[in-house]
Amino acid sequence: MMTNNKLLIGTNLKMYKNIRETVSYLTDLQEVTADLCDDLLLFVIPSYTALPASSAAVDQARIRLGAQNMNWEENGQFTGEISPLMLQELDLKIVEIGHSERRHTFRETDIEENRKVVSAINHGFIALLCVGETGDEKELGVGDERLRQQLKIGLHGLNEADCKSLWVAYEPVWAIGVNGVPASSGYADAKHRVIREALLQIFPHEGHNVPILYGGSVNSGNACELISQPAIDGLFIGRSAWVASEFNALIREVLPVWQHKVHETSNREKRTL
Ligand code: PGA
Repeated sequence: MMTNNKLLIGTNLKMYKNIRETVSYLTDLQEVTADLCDDLLLFVIPSYTALPASSAAVDQARIRLGAQNMNWEENGQFTGEISPLMLQELDLKIVEIGHSERRHTFRETDIEENRKVVSAINHGFIALLCVGETGDEKELGVGDERLRQQLKIGLHGLNEADCKSLWVAYEPVWAIGVNGVPASSGYADAKHRVIREALLQIFPHEGHNVPILYGGSVNSGNACELISQPAIDGLFIGRSAWVASEFNALIREVLPVWQHKVHETSNREKRTL
């Protein structure tokens, strides 16, 4: 089932670009993608220090901006943390929560991700919750359980109306980064279905409207195959998106494949009415 009428495609810049590099990247990306149509929802998630300059540099009707993390409290004795009130000063749309590097390098727990998701939505942001099984969990055959657990805990306390402020990214831990092996499109599609079922269990009415993006070693060789899968609503890309011209080329390959899928799906739905 198609869950939204736009292709969601975006990148997390992790801890790579400084302020100057981020602004130059965003300016280039905005320029080269200027003619792309309303079917695209493009987003970029820079480092905290580059956010004020980023929001001055881009038109967020064209490129939405997000933060890579957020503390759930509004203020307090939390040295080194950034609060939702601080992010509200920056005109951001999205807060990324629970990226695999936050969960595994910085040992964040499902319960902490849940506090962040609830706080981000309550403060008017889109919460982009990342979930994914580790290589060990995959080998042990508990990947699906792990995804359900991350979703049930991560989304605890939200209501149906909050679904409009929620995106989920499926990012298998073993597929991310320089040592990552991309998931096959069939495997990714199957896990997106597991995620959709879990979302519908939690939110029986609105769960079908939450977009589910795939991330983990997406590149120009696999992006079209991934986006053509019925259960994949968008792509969340790292390394392959960090040069504006290359990201632009990838988007231009993916967009018609996505448009074809949407068209076919709506024809099929019309035929079954
Ligand atoms: P990658 O990163 O595309 O470089 O594997 C994906 C991610 O961390 O979201």
